[in-house]
Amino acid sequence: MNIRLNIAGTQSFVDRAMLNELSEKAVIANRALCEGTGKGSDFLGWLTLPSTLDKTELLKLNEVGQRLRANSDVVVAIGIGGSYLGARAVKEALSPFFKRSYNADAPCPELIFAGHHLDGDYLCEMLEHFDGKRVSCIVVSKSGTTTEPAVAFRIVKRYIESHSGDDAKHRIVAVTDAERGALRSMAAREGFDTFAIPDNVGGRFSLFTPAGLLPLAVAGLNVEELLRGAADVEKLSTPDAAFEQNICAQYAAARNALYKSGKKIEILANYNPRLHFVAEWWKQLFGESEGKENKGIFPAGVDFTSDLHSLGQYIQEGERTLFETVLSVDKQRRTLEIPADDKDLDSLNYLAGKRIDEVNRQAAEGTLLAHIDGGVPNIRVEIPELNEYCIGQLVYFFEKSCGISGYLLDVNPFDQPGVEAYKRNMFALLGKPGFEAEGAKLKNRLAAL
Ligand code: PA5
Repeated sequence: MNIRLNIAGTQSFVDRAMLNELSEKAVIANRALCEGTGKGSDFLGWLTLPSTLDKTELLKLNEVGQRLRANSDVVVAIGIGGSYLGARAVKEALSPFFKRSYNADAPCPELIFAGHHLDGDYLCEMLEHFDGKRVSCIVVSKSGTTTEPAVAFRIVKRYIESHSGDDAKHRIVAVTDAERGALRSMAAREGFDTFAIPDNVGGRFSLFTPAGLLPLAVAGLNVEELLRGAADVEKLSTPDAAFEQNICAQYAAARNALYKSGKKIEILANYNPRLHFVAEWWKQLFGESEGKENKGIFPAGVDFTSDLHSLGQYIQEGERTLFETVLSVDKQRRTLEIPADDKDLDSLNYLAGKRIDEVNRQAAEGTLLAHIDGGVPNIRVEIPELNEYCIGQLVYFFEKSCGISGYLLDVNPFDQPGVEAYKRNMFALLGKPGFEAEGAKLKNRLAAL
C-alpha cells in the first residue's frame, strides 16, 4: 500500500494554465535533480540512499544498535537540526505513547534526545534521570563542531566515563564526517565506534544514513522496512517519470502554484499526535531548503484537533495567505468505541457505538470543507498506516518534493547560508577565540537597545 496525494482541494484557488506550466517545469526539475544538472548538485547523495545503502554498513549498524540495546537502559541521541529531527520524527511516529519500548517482545532501551537546544534545566534533569541506569550515547554531527550538540556531548561523555570506567568507549558512538571535524578526530583518539555521513548528503536529507538509522535501530525499529518504503518512492520518481505517476512532482507543482497565487504559508496539519515531530522535521526540510533569496513558502505545523481550538480561528478567518497540507492515516493500530450511557447527561449518545477514529475522520472532513469555504486551499497526503514502510515512503516523498520545489523556486535547496548569522554573533558574544573585536561591537549594540 502506497501513500497517496490528493490536490483536488487546490483547484478553485489556482489558475489551471499556471498549474499546467508548473507541472511541466516540475517534470524538468525532477529530471535535473536525478541527473545532477541543477543547483547544489554536489549534495544529491540522498537521492539514491534508500536503494544503494551498503549492506556491510547496514550490518554494522544493526550490530552496533544491538550492542547498545543490550548494554543500555537509556541511549541519548545527541544532535540538532538535520542531525536530530529525522530520527526524532520517525521514532515518535512509530513508538507507543506510554511504553518506552517500541517492540514489547524485544525490550529496547529508552531513547532520549539532547543537544537540540541550550537549556540547562533539561540537561540537569537528564543527568538526574540517568541515576542508577546504564547510559550510552550516539552523537551525530556532520561538521563535528556544532555548539549545541558539542556542549551536550561533553556533559554526557563525562557522565558515561565517570560511571562506566573502561566500558565507556563501548557506550559512545559517533556519526560524523568521514574525515573532517573535531568529532571525527576525538572518536579516533578515544576509540569510539564511528559511522560516516557521506559528503554529498546534507543534514536535513540524512535520515537514511546512520545519522537517522542508528538511533532508530536502537529504538527497535525495522530500518530495512523504512528503506524499502523510501526505495519504492525513489522508483516512482525516476528521471523519466511522467507527472501523473510522480506524486513528488505533483506536490511540488501544486504548492508552487499556490505560492504564486499569494498563498505564502503552508501549514502541515495532522490528526494523529504521533505525527507532531514529522511536522517539525518537515518544517526544517522545507524552511531551510527554500527560505532564501527573499523567497520561499513559510512552513508551519499544527496538531488537529487540538489546534482547531487555538489556531483554528486564524486558519478559518485570518489573513488569507495560508494553504493546508493535511496528513491523514487510513488505518489506526487500535480501535475504541464510545460507550452508550443510560443517563446521557452529556448528550453524547448520538456518538455511542462510533469508533474514536471515525469521529476523528469526520472532524477532519468537516474541517477540510470549512477551511476550503474559508479560503484555505487543501492538499491531502494519505498514509495507509503508521509503520516503517509507510513512514519511509513519506520521508522520501517529502525529500524529493522539496528538491523539485526548490528548483521551481529557482533556489539552491541544498545550502543554508542564512544559519551562519546567529552563530557568528553567538561565538562573538561568548568570547570564542578569533571573534574578540566583533564581540565588543555586538555588546555595545546590545547595550544601546
Ligand atoms: O540541515 C542541516 O544541514 C542543518 O540543520 C544541520 O543538520 C545542523 O545545523 C547540524 O549540523 P551538524 O550535523 O554539522 O552538527
